[in-house]
Amino acid sequence: MNRPLDRLGRPLGSLRISVTDRCNLRCRYCMPEAEYAWLPRSSLLSFEEIRRVAASFARLGVCKLRLTGGEPLLRQGLPELVAMLKEIAGIEEIALTTNGLLLGAHAAALREAGLDRITMSLDTLRPERMAEFARSAHHADAVAGLDAALAAGFGSLKLNSVVVRRFNDDEIVALVRFARERGVELRFIEYMDVGGATQWRPADVVSRAEILAILAGAFGGAEALPRHDDPRAPAERFRLGDGTVVGIVASTTAPFCRDCDRARITADGTFFRCLYGLDGIDLRDSVRGGATDEDLDRLLRDAWLDRSDRGAELRLGVPDRGVLVQLDGLRADPRREMHVRGG
Ligand code: GTP
Ligand code: 5AD
Ligand code: SF4
Repeated sequence: MNRPLDRLGRPLGSLRISVTDRCNLRCRYCMPEAEYAWLPRSSLLSFEEIRRVAASFARLGVCKLRLTGGEPLLRQGLPELVAMLKEIAGIEEIALTTNGLLLGAHAAALREAGLDRITMSLDTLRPERMAEFARSAHHADAVAGLDAALAAGFGSLKLNSVVVRRFNDDEIVALVRFARERGVELRFIEYMDVGGATQWRPADVVSRAEILAILAGAFGGAEALPRHDDPRAPAERFRLGDGTVVGIVASTTAPFCRDCDRARITADGTFFRCLYGLDGIDLRDSVRGGATDEDLDRLLRDAWLDRSDRGAELRLGVPDRGVLVQLDGLRADPRREMHVRGG
């Protein structure tokens, strides 16, 4: 089947698959509320259903898969899913986004199952800060998880740190040193006004420009690297004065919607064409209602041909930019939450 381009001429390249909406952290930029509405367990796609949907996306051009959550390692048997997805024709790479707390237990099995890459979130080097910011006493498990992943052979692991003013902006330099000691690439992520970020304020965003100024001051310069290794990747990469390479994902101040080739599905099989999209397309009913592979391909193809989303860019033009979705909107449809649609 030929590969669809959306209304802005963008192909399908990667699919982010959320395998659970549960999480064992409560990061303030993502899950700050006391209570959440969870997806009913019976609505979660089985591994076989996920495989079918992913295979259909692969026929339309997807070659990269990323497993995400919530925290994907809370889903039982994840290595088995990795092995199943690895068999799909056209899939060149499978990556995982995780907070790392459970990597100590699962890194080796994931490697054996064929997982190619891991991106781990780590926002602070201080356990007491993590306790306050993510309501978790398990900072040591995250660091142990990172080391277990490296020991299991995930040498191309990346670390993601969301920078939030007055929370961890004083750790930018320390985080770079921490990553450098372990030989892994660190990416700083601008705090985004995605669904679920109910405490987001423009004043708390530390911009790419500010981050670069701090890095250049501490490391003797920061030079932009050419993008040609992966022009569609969200991160821009910089070489610091001491040779260290760091990435910055400037989704808030410099969105990259024009190059976005990402599709995402929630754990209950809802297809979103944008991180900021308010409404998704239900795939679960089709998968469970006897749709053939051709039916599924047609549904996804038509949805992609009709895609014109550029959510982050549109947010740039919003006057008095504030929280994207208010609490009642999140309660009415939890799929609008970042932890449900996958970070
Ligand atoms: P690799 O570079 O291949 O490891 O993947 P990636 O660059 O897609 O990185 P990752 O999946 O770790 O995403 C990094 C961060 O970029 C996410 O946590 C989000 O904050 C942001 N991001 C990812 N996808 C999108 C997107 O579609 N739109 C926007 N605006 N931000 C995104
Ligand atoms: N701003 C930026 N990134 C976010 N993530 C979740 N919420 C936000 C937000 N409000 C991303 C982080 C985290 C990943 C799982 O999701 O990059 O590392
Ligand atoms: Fe934090 Fe990720 Fe969990 Fe959200 S899903 S609370 S970003 S660890």
